[in-house]
Amino acid sequence: MSAAKPNEYRAPRLEELEAVARHIAESFVRGFAWGVGAVEGVGAENLRVLVAPDGTILSGTILHRMGQFFGGRRLGTLGPGALFVTPEARGHGVALELLRHILTEARTAGVPLSTLYPASRQLYGRAGYGLAGARVSRLLEASRVGVRRPGLPVRRAREDEQPALRALHAAVATRTNGWLDRTDYKWRSLFDSGDELRTVYVADGASGPEGYVVLSVMMRNEQRLVQVEDAVAATPAAVHALLAFAAGHAFQAHGILWHGGTADPFEAVLRENVARVDRYMEWYVRVADVKGALETRGYPVALACELHLDVRDDWFAENNGPHRVTLAGGRAQVVRGGTGRVRLSVAALATLLAGARSARELALLGQLEGPDEDIDLLAAVFAGPTPSMNDMF
Ligand SMILES: CC(C)(COP(=O)(O)OP(=O)(O)OC[C@H]1O[C@@H](n2cnc3c(N)ncnc32)[C@H](O)[C@@H]1OP(=O)(O)O)[C@@H](O)C(=O)NCCC(=O)NCCS
Repeated sequence: MSAAKPNEYRAPRLEELEAVARHIAESFVRGFAWGVGAVEGVGAENLRVLVAPDGTILSGTILHRMGQFFGGRRLGTLGPGALFVTPEARGHGVALELLRHILTEARTAGVPLSTLYPASRQLYGRAGYGLAGARVSRLLEASRVGVRRPGLPVRRAREDEQPALRALHAAVATRTNGWLDRTDYKWRSLFDSGDELRTVYVADGASGPEGYVVLSVMMRNEQRLVQVEDAVAATPAAVHALLAFAAGHAFQAHGILWHGGTADPFEAVLRENVARVDRYMEWYVRVADVKGALETRGYPVALACELHLDVRDDWFAENNGPHRVTLAGGRAQVVRGGTGRVRLSVAALATLLAGARSARELALLGQLEGPDEDIDLLAAVFAGPTPSMNDMF
């Protein structure tokens, strides 16, 4: 008797693209045109499907190949977006099967992380993803804006300035935890989203651009909102200038909506606590390759120490078990073995690595165990800016 054929994981064929677009549209309760736009925008090479032996598409996703900054360094990350299981196939572990393939693909490509916005904590928790940050949308109503003048001159960006603005984004990203090194597709759609009116404004300092904002207009519940699609400020002066400039647009609208982390510079410099949280979306990270992720991340240069982590990973034997991490000069070297004094799941490692929770907080939640002195040391090793990301994918 021959064994049952496994489901096949691959890029969709040309003749399957329409079905993928339909599945995505149905699963995310959107129109067919939206599904087609999502599929065409990224190209078949960035789509994956899981196909039953009889050729039925069971599941699929869009793979965003990005980088994400932690500790001042870029780590490759594979971001599954628009992940779906067809309604008929749900409830049988298909999503977990797809995720295992995605993570195996990441590992094979030498990509240490996977990042996503989870529709369910349980589903992605079972796949080893852990909380890594939150995208917080804030709304400042026009009546609460208060009139202020930008301290720096703000002007419309020139067409040929996009590379310079991308470089500004990259420079600020290395000082954060969580900002993305975006795909070219994301950059293209940020600056030009077809019919929608988008305007890019630049804040100039004494020696060149110090920040920029991308503004659009959106309608919601019959209210017009000015939306900040992207905002980058490399200096405190740019934070103030861009906030005042963007907020000035709110008077003909209901208000201004922008997206950032839980700690957000534009919110922080408001004179009063008047911005209201409009939406709070957690994002999760999966450490696909423990050694690769720990060795690529950056650390405080002043610390020289040894960590003994016993990582539990039910999916990848290469990650599972004790790792000795030697830290010096802001870099880590990881070898298998050591005492494994600190025990944690691969999901808790993602939370720690991203800086979303300290080792002490993870210990209080029962997600990390170890001697007190190791917990204090880990808290210092992974200390850094509160993770933030304003991209949606
Ligand atoms: C969410 C979705 C992908 C799950 O697919 P699925 O194949 O049914 O999921 P699985 O069978 O692999 O689920 C594995 C585990 O995840 C959890 N899980 C799955 N769907 C869940 C849901 N909607 N809510 C809470 N937990 C869920 C359960 O713990 C489940 O294990 P159990 O069945 O033993 O309890 C599917 O329902 C879907 O396509 N929904 C619409 C689109 C969507 O929301 N995509 C997710 C974008 S992040």
